[in-house]
Amino acid sequence: MGQKIKFNYKDKEYEFPLIQGTEGEVGIDIKTLRSETGLITLDPGYKNTGSCISSITYLDGENGILRYRGYDIDDLANNSSFIEVSYLLIFGEMPSSNELNKFENDIRKECLVHEDITSILKSFPHGAHPMGVLASLTSALISFNPGSVDVNSEEKMYHAIVQLIAKFSVLTAWVHRKVRGLPLNYSDNSLPYVENLAQMMFKNPNEEYRSNPVITSALNKLLILHADHEQNCSTSTVRIVGSSEAGLFASISAGISALWGRLHGGANQAVIEMLEMIKRDGGDASKFMEKAKDKNHSFRLMGFGHRVYKNFDPRAKIIKKTADGILKDLGIEDPILDIAKNLEQEALNDKYFVDRKLYPNVDFYSGIIYRALEIPTEMFTVMFALGRLPGWIAQWREMRLNKEPIGRPRQIYNGSISRNTKSKG
Ligand code: ACO
Repeated sequence: MGQKIKFNYKDKEYEFPLIQGTEGEVGIDIKTLRSETGLITLDPGYKNTGSCISSITYLDGENGILRYRGYDIDDLANNSSFIEVSYLLIFGEMPSSNELNKFENDIRKECLVHEDITSILKSFPHGAHPMGVLASLTSALISFNPGSVDVNSEEKMYHAIVQLIAKFSVLTAWVHRKVRGLPLNYSDNSLPYVENLAQMMFKNPNEEYRSNPVITSALNKLLILHADHEQNCSTSTVRIVGSSEAGLFASISAGISALWGRLHGGANQAVIEMLEMIKRDGGDASKFMEKAKDKNHSFRLMGFGHRVYKNFDPRAKIIKKTADGILKDLGIEDPILDIAKNLEQEALNDKYFVDRKLYPNVDFYSGIIYRALEIPTEMFTVMFALGRLPGWIAQWREMRLNKEPIGRPRQIYNGSISRNTKSKG
């Protein structure tokens, strides 16, 4: 772009280049700031800080736009399969039908998980949170697939990626079975990915399992909508852990832990818990709205607000429509959906929410779909993690291929200045 930004510090003028992305966003390149000036920048929560240059996902929070590799999220959610989108995110282009077949087959070949993992799963107490179990099992997979990925070998990188996609779907299904106290199901390699996931999650030993296209289509859409979201908390975690050259599986396990929090992926569980609380309380949303606005109260309207979206989260729009459709198709009447819609209407017309540009986010309606699929509330964030997996992998791969330096922020120290034990009074 050629333009520079100038500033004076201690009577000296410094210049730093401006850098422009393909969609026009502009940043100041301060890579040499400290070496030239001795200064650092301070930006808690990274509200203004770009951590990398990435060509995976474009997000325009002001206009509610989300694209993976240039494809609009609406287009992908309505016209693609989750595995196609995974390939697109990771390798940069839509797969040809041959590439897609090969990718699907390679994933199928890796759909067995070491049987000893089942002993680890069984040893978790009943009531252990599924996100903790999933993070632990993903870490445990490292012991059964030792060796870090040789990122200089496309072949080895590809192998690690298909292994992880395959085994992660099995772990997700097994964690679900553990929560429900049901026997574990194994992969059926005759089925496409989402159908296979559904049978591993829902097949009962005492009856024939029939794939339900309403369920698989909703799952496919939800997984796509969650598949990537640029440099959010868990993705930044995956990139930063991976930057130390910790392996792919270890980096993903760290991402799962970051996703767990209720300000991030854990919000989908928190939303349903909040809606149930409103229902138990008689269904009056306005009381909870007041609580959310009260600065003396820690209560927040879960599923509302977003660091980047200052307009409708485009994923929330698609999910709301899908939730309506799936409840109708499955013949379910869920009063929680009505409470959610009332709450949304109140918030969209409330000055506090309007002024702060707080709109429903991806988590506001996703739980209603998971409930309709009879997935337990504490499993919701695990389903999010399964969807986010290809995004984490894509971001990890990009970071390693770009040979990004180890992530290591600086700080402004404001503790005690130098002292010694003898000066202790
Ligand atoms: N309910 C009530 N007030 C809110 C909410 C909310 N959900 N979200 C933000 N605010 C208010 C804040 O109190 C603050 O008000 P102030 O300016 O008067 O102090 C203002 O809006 C800005 O909020 P911040 O916390 O500074 O915004 P930030 O970008 O740091 O946080 C976040 C974004 C964490 C998502 C926040 O909106 C929130 O906590 N939402 C609820 C949790 C949630 O739904 N998380 C899922 C996000 S999507 C995802 O991660 C997958």
